[in-house]
This record gives sequence, C-alpha cells and structure tokens, in this order.
Amino acid sequence: MTTTLAFDIYGTLIDTDGVTDALELLVAERAGEFSRRWREKQLEYSFRRGLMHDYQEFAVCVRQALDFVCLSPGFNLSDPEKQSLMDSYRTLPAFPDVKTGLDDVKQAGFRSYAFSNGSAAAVGGLLEHAGIDDYFIDVVSVDEIKTFKPDPAVYLHFLERAGARPQDAWLISGNPFDVVGALSVGMRAAWVQRSNGTVFDPWELQPTVTITTLTELAGAIK
Ligand code: 2OP
Repeated sequence: MTTTLAFDIYGTLIDTDGVTDALELLVAERAGEFSRRWREKQLEYSFRRGLMHDYQEFAVCVRQALDFVCLSPGFNLSDPEKQSLMDSYRTLPAFPDVKTGLDDVKQAGFRSYAFSNGSAAAVGGLLEHAGIDDYFIDVVSVDEIKTFKPDPAVYLHFLERAGARPQDAWLISGNPFDVVGALSVGMRAAWVQRSNGTVFDPWELQPTVTITTLTELAGAIK
C-alpha cells in the first residue's frame, strides 16, 4: 500500500515564530519571549479544552492565549495591536526547507495530507499564502470531530479520512506531543527537530525517525 504522510502545520511546515518581526515593533527585545509564551499558552488551552470536552476552534485558543500573555507586565497591547498580531498569524511563513522537502516527497510518490489543530480554512489559507497548497491531497482538521491533538480520536479520524492503515501512515511533526499521539495509535512518526535545543519527551514512545530538516524526510521514510 502507498505510504501516506500526515504533515502537521504549526511548528512543522509553518513557522509560528514568524510573528517575531511584528512583535519587535511592539515589545522590542522581548519579542522572542512573547512569541514562545504565546505559542505555549495556545497549546495548553487546546489540551485543556480537549480534556474538558469544551471545544472551540483553534483560533479561539490562539486569541485567548494572546489575551493571557498581554496580561503580563510589559506586554500590555491595545486591541488594534492584538488584532494585527492575529492577522499576522494568518500569513505566517513556511520554514525555508519546506518546498524542497515536499518536492522530494512528491517525487518519491508518497500521498501527502495536511493535518492540523487549525481549521481547514485557516490551514488552507496558510498553505496557499506559502505557495505549497498543491502538494496536498486534502486538509484534515481536528475541527471535523471537535477535539484536539493528542486525543487518539484525531489520529484515528485522520486514518479514516485518508483511507490508510496505521502501519502505512506517518505523522511528520515538529511537536513531540503530536509525535507521541500518532505513535500511540500505531502510526509511524518522523520528529522534525527544528532547533538543536529542543528535546523529545522521555516517554516509552520515541519517534520512528528524527530529522532536522524536511529535506531528509523522503530518504528517511521506508
Ligand atoms: C498543529 O496541529 C499541533 O499546532 C499544531 O498544526
């Protein structure tokens, strides 16, 4: 059976730190800290909403995380400033290795899907803006079943949508919690270690392969 690839979006293909330039204008040298805290809080809110069965679109988690970070001293932004950051999130850039990596995967004949916490509309817009939408058969969003990664239900939903068996499907993700989620339903998973300092959770499930750039992906998948 042809191998199916599920590409995570935020933090894997699309760089969530792409807001840093916009943030520098607002919080100067604390832009990196702001971006990191904003991203961590988004994920925390998605985990909590999943656990509480209180689903809202991922964009709501992103906006509420932004409001939370702005409650900290020195990060007090106005509503128009916050809105402009939310707008920037709709046009975040792809990482520089993405196009080449996706080209290699296409040449190798794999079936590629986008698979994200983001809504299909948000993800479709990001892929189109980055000029990489044509590489994907479809966007599979957790919004279709109203829960978040790493609920096992979302990985099973992906497999059903893609018509793939777990042993023939790979998750490609820069997010360790996502990799562990996919492995836990029997999928294989490539962890994209996007920076040297990032470490993988010392759990009983470890990535099938670890790569540092998407250009290694086609050669790493068997
Ligand atoms: C995504 O689903 C986990 O945020 C990441 O795109």
